[in-house]
Amino acid sequence: MCGIVGYIGHREAYPIVLKGLKRLEYRGYDSAGIAIYDGKEIQLCKTKGKVVDLEQKIKEETPTSGTLAIGHTRWATHGIPNDINSHPHYSNSGNLVIIHNGIIENYDSIKKELIKRGYHFHSDTDTEVLVNLIEDVIKKEKVKLGKAVQIALNQVVGAYAIVVFDKAKPNELVVAKLGSPLAIGLGENEFFVASDASPFIEYTNNAIYLEDEEMAVIRRHKGVKIRKIKDDSLVEPYIQELQLNLEQIEKGGFDHFMMKEIYEQPSAIKDTFRGRLLADQGIIKVGGLEDHIQKFVNANRIVIVGCGTSWHAGLVAEYIFEDLARIPVEVEYASEFRYRNPIITEKDVVIAISQSGETADTLAAIKLAKSKGAFVYGVCNVVGSTISRETHSGTYTHAGPEIGVASTKAFTTQITVLTLIALKLASVKGTISFRDYNIYLRELDLIPKRVEIALKSNDHIKSIAKIFKDAKNFLYLGRGYNFPVALEGALKLKEISYIHAEGYPAAEMKHGPIALIDEEMPVVVIAVNSNHYDKVVSNIQEIKSRKGIIIAVVTKGDTTVRNMADYVIEVPETPESLTPLVTTIPLQLLSYHIAVLLDRNVDQPRNLAKSVTVE
Ligand code: AGP
Ligand code: GLU
Repeated sequence: MCGIVGYIGHREAYPIVLKGLKRLEYRGYDSAGIAIYDGKEIQLCKTKGKVVDLEQKIKEETPTSGTLAIGHTRWATHGIPNDINSHPHYSNSGNLVIIHNGIIENYDSIKKELIKRGYHFHSDTDTEVLVNLIEDVIKKEKVKLGKAVQIALNQVVGAYAIVVFDKAKPNELVVAKLGSPLAIGLGENEFFVASDASPFIEYTNNAIYLEDEEMAVIRRHKGVKIRKIKDDSLVEPYIQELQLNLEQIEKGGFDHFMMKEIYEQPSAIKDTFRGRLLADQGIIKVGGLEDHIQKFVNANRIVIVGCGTSWHAGLVAEYIFEDLARIPVEVEYASEFRYRNPIITEKDVVIAISQSGETADTLAAIKLAKSKGAFVYGVCNVVGSTISRETHSGTYTHAGPEIGVASTKAFTTQITVLTLIALKLASVKGTISFRDYNIYLRELDLIPKRVEIALKSNDHIKSIAKIFKDAKNFLYLGRGYNFPVALEGALKLKEISYIHAEGYPAAEMKHGPIALIDEEMPVVVIAVNSNHYDKVVSNIQEIKSRKGIIIAVVTKGDTTVRNMADYVIEVPETPESLTPLVTTIPLQLLSYHIAVLLDRNVDQPRNLAKSVTVE
């Protein structure tokens, strides 16, 4: 999620920080801003849009000369992308300036408390709350900035990489990290901070990567002091000598954005349920839903519209909503829905799913549903996107920017949001017991860990990819909750490797596809523990008896399918309704490795765009 850059040293700070922001553009963002400090005055300039727009805006104001500056590229989570919500943010006194990458979950309660104490806010962001909390601590505790940051962050729940400075202390920067990345570059009497090393690698390859719950005070002539946020104890810095080149840094050391985003899924899922899933307290809080729950509960049905991977997420939701919340659901391709003169009434709720929030067919479906009186709810990844503004309400997935054209973390975070909504509705409707509800919350909380375990099969999956990279056709089979995952797995393979692949409900084999089976047709079967397990085993037998080749995704410890399939990929034991969040991981990895082996342009496959904003 976006980027931070800071510089304190002996050189002009502005050009270094501006260039550093350009180096971080690959991370995706919607706004940019910078604060330059000359020891007397702060020049703060920020804008919705691109770094070049910021550069133009500063040029018009003439950039201040100063050897301290901080800059930010924002990926909005709280407050739409606009100039005021862009970073940096001042504290009320104008003495403190902050930039922040992450999410402050409990910003609302802190904001209410600060308003009671006379603070006022210009923006809708959680970040502006944090900088005023720090200011409030300085005033109340009569402490310096570093100590105030430490005290304030112990009151904060969420994720952050922050850089903050105090006008009264032009020789120091204070930084802190929890959940979002923060690197410190160590130069000759000069220091850099950034989300990764790309903004400072040309000046120094000596870096300190802060660990979670660590902060640092960086003093121009005295160096870096690292402390634990929890107890203020000193931490011995570990200085790394970086050997990475720029391109490797941008992709987090991965060869492609898609792989980086596949591996970001544990943290993306965590960020998506951060502040929304409070498993220990048995609570689900979904902001955009709270005021509209009765519309869902009393709806005749829920119609889900989307395209591509988002449509697959909708299919998973159909199983979840009907199974848990007992609400009738229909899932439609937005492109079909918009033209077939559908019967939609004000008793219907329409959920529109879109990573980009700009897909033309989905937007058109929303407008049609609204014109017929339906309540329309959005699930988007881009704050302030057209679809997020067109729907009556909605929930953002906090997946962070998804750069690779093939959706990966978008899919799993969409399912995460939809699962939270379905569980919330099931709890309100009483369609699941209080006991089962709490079991689901705890199991959902464990999903990031399970995804991490599934990712550990990467090397094994790469070895399978080598065997099948020259196949001309694939078949993907799944039942129940994993039928949509079979469709998604086939789409992933098609769109990045250009190999034809089809997804089917496993039971459909006998109604045609089984005619395709021969030793040239690899069949990927999702055969995890479920109510359908024995049926899937029978389908595997049917395929084996026709010389088909089976690649099976099974639950760890499975012995039955293991003795039948040609290749087996294990995933951790997971409650059936949550398995799509885990079984999709090996299919993403399989398609990735096959595409790489075929030397495809994995991040920008031929003929495809990240967002289809035209019909
Ligand atoms: C999936 O990997 C593709 N990128 C594509 O099918 C995508 O899911 C579809 O175009 C919908 O995009 P959206 O989620 O941004 O609306
Ligand atoms: N949550 C903050 C905001 O919405 C920071 C988002 C980011 O990481 O850029 O402004």
